[in-house]
Amino acid sequence: MGFRVWPDVGARDEIRYALAWRQQPGSLAGLPNLRAILVMGAGVDGVLRDPELPASVAVLRLLDAGMAVPMAEYALHALLHFHRRMPDYLAQRRESKWQPLPWSLVADWPVGVLGLGVIGSVIAQRIAAMGYPIAAWVAQERASDDIQIFAGRSRFDEFLARSRVIVNVLPLTPQTENILDARAFAAMPRGGYVINIGRGAHVNDEDLITALDAGQLAGAMLDVFREEPLPPAHALWRHPKIIVTPHIAAPTIVDTAEQQIIANIERLERGEMPIGLVSRERGY
Ligand code: GLV
Repeated sequence: MGFRVWPDVGARDEIRYALAWRQQPGSLAGLPNLRAILVMGAGVDGVLRDPELPASVAVLRLLDAGMAVPMAEYALHALLHFHRRMPDYLAQRRESKWQPLPWSLVADWPVGVLGLGVIGSVIAQRIAAMGYPIAAWVAQERASDDIQIFAGRSRFDEFLARSRVIVNVLPLTPQTENILDARAFAAMPRGGYVINIGRGAHVNDEDLITALDAGQLAGAMLDVFREEPLPPAHALWRHPKIIVTPHIAAPTIVDTAEQQIIANIERLERGEMPIGLVSRERGY
């Protein structure tokens, strides 16, 4: 099988599979024999937003491919950072101030994970293993033996009200865009925390800053942004209660991603069902 790198794709009718990540709109159009678009990441919003994306071609995303554990590491790090009051100790350190602060048990830190796919499940299990009370919010009803589930918009506020910390790993779709807005922050317990490792557009940035300034939220750790790289003048960089990282929660691990993509192409060639098939209607 030959390999071409866009835009030098050569004869367009020879292209059967495309590997994509936030492609230039229209770059996958006019490929008459294209069979599948293999996304080089877990989230497919950057591929699906292309208005010229061929309608009948299968879109496949990476399932875990080594990303779930690093995502869980990031979430756990952020959670422990806030729970163990590191922002306060870092502030005290700047003044050489030796002052032990009140400490609280994991039981006092209920964590809510938004999204319980392959990645959200690993995050929830690892956080639960540390002893934190854990629950997940999902769009569609589903069963889980070990994690308390809140399904659908009708249970969103109830989920937020029991979550001192929320970890977002939802897929970005028209239904989940701006899901973390002023209303959502107000539904959380006062002094809550937001960890966003889903997509920047899940969060209304202005509402986040307002909630932090008002003390409704106590801190946020953000790895994803509406515009990446986050522009140097952006208010999120400068806010004292926000920690910004440059979309590093889980880099795509080349070896495992490559193996999964090759295995999927082989499945398609054998006429078998691939893994990670995206529903265009659902958007993930
Ligand atoms: C990264 O953001 C991914 O979706 O894999």
